[in-house]
Parts: sequence; structure tokens; C-alpha cells
Amino acid sequence: MLSIVENVYINTDKYNIGESMSIVEIFFSPSGTSQKVADQIASNFSQEKENCNLLIFKSSKELKSDDVAVVVMPVFAGRIPKTARERLSKIKGKNTPAIAVVNYGNAHVTDSLLELVDLLKENSFNVIAAASTVSHHSIFDGVAVGRPDDSDIAKIDEFSQKCIEKLESCEGLASEIPGNRPYTDYNQLPFVISCDESLCAFCYDCVSICPEKAIPEDDPIETDLDLCSRCTACISICPEDARKFTGDAFEAKKPVFEEANALRKEPEFYL
Ligand SMILES: Cc1cc2nc3c(=O)[nH]c(=O)nc-3n(C[C@H](O)[C@H](O)[C@H](O)COP(=O)(O)O)c2cc1C
Ligand code: SF4
Ligand code: SF4
Repeated sequence: MLSIVENVYINTDKYNIGESMSIVEIFFSPSGTSQKVADQIASNFSQEKENCNLLIFKSSKELKSDDVAVVVMPVFAGRIPKTARERLSKIKGKNTPAIAVVNYGNAHVTDSLLELVDLLKENSFNVIAAASTVSHHSIFDGVAVGRPDDSDIAKIDEFSQKCIEKLESCEGLASEIPGNRPYTDYNQLPFVISCDESLCAFCYDCVSICPEKAIPEDDPIETDLDLCSRCTACISICPEDARKFTGDAFEAKKPVFEEANALRKEPEFYL
């Protein structure tokens, strides 16, 4: 594993690449794989790590110029999730170097990576590298099973080491990021999420984690589907497997989607 040269001041008007900096992982990860990718990138750095989990972190924050932000967002219908975008908008840099990653379910990245890079630049981050990584699809669970796998992890490590080299040499982002502006419209999925009352242990973990307040505080069996973004956080956190996607629309779409997206896609890296 490559570690950054300790306490070396590379260039007075750029970053102080040393042990005083922190690696700030910023992620929105309802089913856990985006956090896994962020952790993997961060594990290549020797510096202290700080987590900013946007499922629960709603405050404003400013990073230091010598921190490094590792920002990983899942792709929701070709965009970064609306709520994640709103929460990320409150986190500002100070020409802070950032690594921007969208993590998708082997279907399509569409405009999400461009959107993430644009947003970070608007918030005074200096995006030095970007990537799209592939992970297990959080809705259609027959797609990209087991990913990120060993091959993905090896590529993510190689990318992380190139990021470290770029930080040491103060290089900016040279690659063009795929995607179009204006970004594709937000698109709410029509699927139903329901809770099996006979399995529910009334622990209220789903109520606490829901970023949209779509599960009533006094009734975890209900879900307000007008508020729900179908993010899957409640499904992942439920210790009783009581919550899941149900309904005719979902059952009809699942086999079609899984067949259409069966071919393995690979992570892409932009330096
Ligand atoms: C509401 C929603 C929409 C999604 N849209 C896409 C998409 O457009 N393209 C894609 O490849 N995967 C899509 N996915 C799959 C996720 O991007 C993928 O599973 C990701 O790894 C989830 O990250 P997480 O484990 O951090 O929640 C979607 C998942 C959800 C919940
Ligand atoms: S109810 Fe909807 S928005 Fe809330 S955690 Fe579950 S899937 Fe996400
Ligand atoms: S997390 Fe599961 S078991 Fe706990 S209240 Fe929600 S549905 Fe019930």
C-alpha cells in the first residue's frame, strides 16, 4: 500500500500533503455498498479518517484546504439521489481536493458523475479524480451479485494509489467526465415498499434511518409512498427482513431488468 510522504509541503499555493490532513469520507449509502467503496479508497491513505454519512448528517460543514474528500454517491435513475444532493450542497470545501465517485448497479451511470463533479466544484472543491464503480443492485438483487468483488477492489486500490500520486504532484483532473447538461429529470420509481407486520419486531430502526421521514414514528408498518424515494435504507437496516419491494409492477419488471443488465460492466476511472 502506498502512503503519502509525511509532512512534505509540496507547493505553497496548493495542498499540504502530510499527516495533519484528514481523509473525509462523504457518502450516502442506503444499502451499504457506496460506503464500502469509500472505505476502500480511504484505506489506501495513511492519514486519519473522518466519516460524514449523509443518510444521517444534515448539518453544514466546511472542510480544510489540506483535507481530502472522498465522496461516493449511489446512482438513482441516472442522477445522484435528490436528498443526498441537498445534504452534500451544505458541505463546502476551501479548494479542498476531492475524489468523486458514483456507485451504480450495473445498469447506467447516465448524468450522475457529471452532476456530482459539477456540484463539488460549485462547493469549492478541487476535483482531482473521478470514477464510476459497480455494486450489487439494491433493488433488483439478481444484478451484480457480490460486487464490488476482488477484481473491483484491486482496481479501486490501483485508482486510489494514482490519486495519491496526483495529490503529491498537485495535478488536476485532466479527463472529461461523461454525461449531459441539463441532467436527466428526476424519476420516481413506481414500486411499492411494504412491511410484513407478522415479522416486525417494532424496533423502529427503519423510522430512525429513513431520510425522507416516510415511515410514521408511531407505525413502522406503514410507508408514505409519496415521500419515499425507494432508497432501500429501511430494507437494509431491518433486522427481521420485514420490509421489501412488492407489487405487480415490481414483480413484472424484475426478470426483464435482470436479463437486460446481466452482462458485467467494469468500473471506469477518470484522472
Ligand atoms: C431508487 C434507486 C434507483 C436506482 N437507479 C439506478 C440506475 O439508474 N442505474 C444503476 O445502474 N443502478 C441504479 N440503482 C442501483 C444502485 O445505484 C446501486 O445498487 C448502488 O450500489 C446502491 O448503493 P448503496 O449500496 O450505497 O445504497 C438504483 C437504486 C435505487 C435504490
Ligand atoms: S421508506 Fe422509502 S425513503 Fe424511507 S428508508 Fe425506506 S425506502 Fe428509503
Ligand atoms: S426495522 Fe424492521 S423490525 Fe424494526 S420496526 Fe422497522 S420493519 Fe419493524
